[in-house]
Amino acid sequence: MASGKNALGLDIGSSSIKVTQLKESKKGVHLVTFDMAMLPPEAVVDGALMSFSVVTDKIRELIRVNRIRNKQCALGISGHSVIIKKISLPEMTQDELADSIQWEAEQYIPFDIKDVNVDVQILNPKTSHGQMDVLLVAAKKDVINDYISVVGDAGLTPVVVDVDTFSFQNMFELNYGFPVNETVALINLGASVININVISNGMTTFTRDISMGGSMLTEEIQKQLNVSYEEAEHYKTGGHENVSSSAVFREIMKLSERVSETLVTEIQRSFDFFAATTVNAELSRIFVCGGSSQVPSLTRFLEKRIEVPVEMINPFKNVIIDSKRFDLDLLQRMAPMAAVSLGLALRRANDK
Ligand SMILES: Nc1ncnc2c1ncn2[C@@H]1O[C@H](COP(=O)(O)OP(=O)(O)OP(=O)(O)O)[C@@H](O)[C@H]1O
Ligand SMILES: [Mg+2]
Repeated sequence: MASGKNALGLDIGSSSIKVTQLKESKKGVHLVTFDMAMLPPEAVVDGALMSFSVVTDKIRELIRVNRIRNKQCALGISGHSVIIKKISLPEMTQDELADSIQWEAEQYIPFDIKDVNVDVQILNPKTSHGQMDVLLVAAKKDVINDYISVVGDAGLTPVVVDVDTFSFQNMFELNYGFPVNETVALINLGASVININVISNGMTTFTRDISMGGSMLTEEIQKQLNVSYEEAEHYKTGGHENVSSSAVFREIMKLSERVSETLVTEIQRSFDFFAATTVNAELSRIFVCGGSSQVPSLTRFLEKRIEVPVEMINPFKNVIIDSKRFDLDLLQRMAPMAAVSLGLALRRANDK
């Protein structure tokens, strides 16, 4: 465990901003704050900030309402501006790798190397024939700078910039651990992005971001029922029960099935690719998080198609929660959306 206090986990998603504060003690990890603020559509698109002032205002509001005093935050980024690749390099030390990576990375990245920040982690120090497996992460500097500027305007200091895919991996490790000799897939189903992270023996072996998500269902509901974005979101998240119109309910179920089918087909395509390019690619379980994991029929379709048990992740499973301070029912309902920010809140200022 690193020293210093936990950073404030700040997850700026395309449909909402989430904040999580944790405190670690000898007893374990305690929840200090969790809250979220909805964003209008188009404020954040595929991981890129489009409307700085809207995002800044919402972060300020979250800080004020929750009386957050910790100004050091950990940010997550995702989408087209992030590249994650597993590559094979000649065996070398971490220092040698740090020296050569800028040059090595060039051939694996579709952007100009000058425009990205590059980070590396040795996964497997020895594979065969003097080679080692390395995880290469590159993120566009202009996108990172946009995040830093927006967060700075809201009065926070970013001390860690992480990638969503690894944040929910950390969240998962806290709550479930990684079983040895098992390959599991973690899938974060967001509004506009689906992040897939396949983990063997606790180590990432495959990642893929799909530029699709639950917003596809929102758009379908808007179109078919001729309603606004806000109304569609309301229907989608169970609001139709109050409307008590069974025709609307049936229509939403039908649209959910259609969208689930499309999303599951894309996910399967990624798994097919994984299976075709990896030895021992046998998945034993799939764990899902993200708001869109609640889209009716999605996990059922996924289980049927991939033929592997699918389980919903509870990001608060191993987190100590004071029931006098939190509405546990409300927290449980927001739990799928909390995954990334909880993983970010595990980070500390002096982390790598
Ligand atoms: N009960 C529910 N049923 C169906 N969909 C839901 C439910 N609750 C939330 N969602 C959907 O989940 C999505 C939000 O999930 P999440 O917060 O994980 O996404 P995000 O982080 O804002 O987006 P992204 O990471 O893709 O940019 C929205 O599309 C929302 O409509
Ligand atoms: Mg998200």
